[in-house]
Amino acid sequence: MNHTTTDVDSHPSDGSEDRSALRVVEVRKSFGGGPPWHRKRVEVLRGASLEVRAGELVGLVGENGSGKSVLMQIIVGLLAKDDGEILRPERLGYCPQEPLLWEKLTVGEHFTLFGAAYRMSEEQMSDAAAELMEELQFGRYEHYRVDQLSGGTRQKLNLALSLMHRPQLLLLDEPYTGFDWETYLRFWEMAVSRRASGMAILVVSHILAERDRLDRIYELRDGRAS
Ligand SMILES: Nc1ncnc2c1ncn2[C@@H]1O[C@H](COP(=O)(O)OP(=O)(O)O)[C@@H](O)[C@H]1O
Ligand SMILES: [Mg+2]
Repeated sequence: MNHTTTDVDSHPSDGSEDRSALRVVEVRKSFGGGPPWHRKRVEVLRGASLEVRAGELVGLVGENGSGKSVLMQIIVGLLAKDDGEILRPERLGYCPQEPLLWEKLTVGEHFTLFGAAYRMSEEQMSDAAAELMEELQFGRYEHYRVDQLSGGTRQKLNLALSLMHRPQLLLLDEPYTGFDWETYLRFWEMAVSRRASGMAILVVSHILAERDRLDRIYELRDGRAS
C-alpha cells in the first residue's frame, strides 16, 4: 500500500490498491454498560469494514448511537479496537464531533500549537492559518480566546485545525453542526476542492440530504457497514 500523496484523478474508479488511503477491516468494539448491578456488554461494532481511496469523498451514515463516532475514534487511535485491522496513512486530520479546544487559548495560539504538533514550519503554519481563516471567514477572531467564541466559530476552528497540515486522510465527524447555511455550503465547497487535490475524506453525518455530494456512502447498522 502506497501511503504517499500523489497526483490522482478526482474520481478514481479502477480500484487500484495503491490509491487506498483508509482500509477498515472487520473491526469490532464493545463497551461494558449499564448500572453496576446489571452490567452487560454492548457490542457497538461487530465486524465493520470500509475503504476510502485518495480523491474520494465518502459518507458514513447511521442512526444516533450506531457507532459512527466510535469508529472514527478507533481509526484515529483515540480508542482501542477489540479486533480487526486498520490501515491508514501517517498524515491524517480529524475533526471531532465535540471540538477539542483549550478555552483559555486564542484562535491564533491554537494554530501555533497544532502546527507544532504537525511539525510544520512557522511559515507553513502561518500561511495555512491565514488561508483557512480567510476561507472560513473567521480571521477577525484570531486574537479571541476560545471561551469568547460562539459555537459556530469554535466549529470553524475545529475544522480548520484538522485541515491545516493538508492531511492525506481527513476524518470529519458531523463537522458542520452549528454552521449557518452559508458556512455549510462553503464547507462542502472546501471538501470538494480537497477531494480534487487527492485528499481522501470520510465524513460522518446522519443527514441523508447530502447523498448527492458524496462518491459513496456506508451505512452503519447493527455494528456493520454496508
Ligand atoms: N467511551 C465510551 N464508553 C462506553 N460506551 C460508549 C463510549 N463511546 C460510545 N459509547 C456507546 O457506543 C454507542 C455508539 O456511540 P457513537 O459512536 O457515539 O454513536 P454515533 O453513531 O451517534 O456517533 C452508543 O451506544 C454509545 O453510548
Ligand atoms: Mg457521533
